[in-house]
Amino acid sequence: MKEKIEEIKNKSIKEIKELIDLKQLEELRIKYLGKKGELTALLKGLKDVAESQRPIIGNLVNDVRNNLETLISEKETELKERELNKKLEQEKIDITIPGNKLKRGSIHPLNRIIEDMEDLFVSMGYDVVTGPELETDEFCFERLNLPKGHPARDMQDSFYITDEYLLRTQTSSVQARTMIANTEKTPIRMITCGKTYRREDDATHSHQFNQIEGLVIDKKDAHVSLADLKGTLEVFVKKIIGANLDLRFRPSYFPFTEPSYEVDVTCFKCGGKGCNLCKGTGWIEVLGSGIVHPNVLKVNGYDPDQYGGFAFGTGIDRLAMFRYGITDMRYLYTNDVRFLNQFDRKDEE
Ligand code: DAH
Repeated sequence: MKEKIEEIKNKSIKEIKELIDLKQLEELRIKYLGKKGELTALLKGLKDVAESQRPIIGNLVNDVRNNLETLISEKETELKERELNKKLEQEKIDITIPGNKLKRGSIHPLNRIIEDMEDLFVSMGYDVVTGPELETDEFCFERLNLPKGHPARDMQDSFYITDEYLLRTQTSSVQARTMIANTEKTPIRMITCGKTYRREDDATHSHQFNQIEGLVIDKKDAHVSLADLKGTLEVFVKKIIGANLDLRFRPSYFPFTEPSYEVDVTCFKCGGKGCNLCKGTGWIEVLGSGIVHPNVLKVNGYDPDQYGGFAFGTGIDRLAMFRYGITDMRYLYTNDVRFLNQFDRKDEE
């Protein structure tokens, strides 16, 4: 009996060392300690052992069983740990593998140009201001020296909401708003960019478009002159549209400025030789500008004897078309990805 016990002990210890997974461990447990297991059988056989030997043999079997139970539980811990480590190893994430790139939207060419203009004018000491798109006749026209019935109103075919309210046809309305809002009547140096609306629709006109407007007002002794206007617009055109463009100042008429000028730049298509785009002149008109009309100063609370300044304005869509060589303004509003993708964040790719 003792040899049998010793044999089972050695055998089970050897087997436990060799097994490699929890399933085998469970099989081993059943084999020795289960209801029909080898050690259980030994215990059951005790009744056949001589009574004097029974406690000794019984103790021996119990020792072997306890020992085996301890070994099994140790092995179980070891195997579980090994399995966990194996799993962790398999599920390890390699953070050096490049991820999937998410496609980001791009900045719309109009917003890009607006941001560039705002940066430029802020760098020259201007404020960036805003005004309402739903505007009154008073601010859109009357306060800009365009009384009711003025022929220059015909150039801006308007969307009236009521007799008094319309969708603004020009950002020049913000000139008047800025002057009125400035109750201290301190000097002004501002630009504003925003949407404007007119009843027109073709390759170079959209019923909704964008304008930039600039206004500088200072005391007469600050001598804000045409030379300042010219210098400012030169920087503007060269930084925003193209560094190697020539500018031409051409006398013109706007009700809110006197004298008034239109600024032309070298035709970007033919380089100044003359083509169908510039109608053979070599020049393309880009900006309206001039010295603020005394009437405009007066009705908006600035004494024209003490204050003076200049103003300028133009369509941002036109600027974008010149800058990027876009031939149809409607591309800017139809959200075609084939168009928009061309203005992708190339710098980030
Ligand atoms: N508001 C004019 C337009 O929409 C553009 C313009 C011309 C603005 C001359 C100005 C200016 O500020 O001085 O046609």
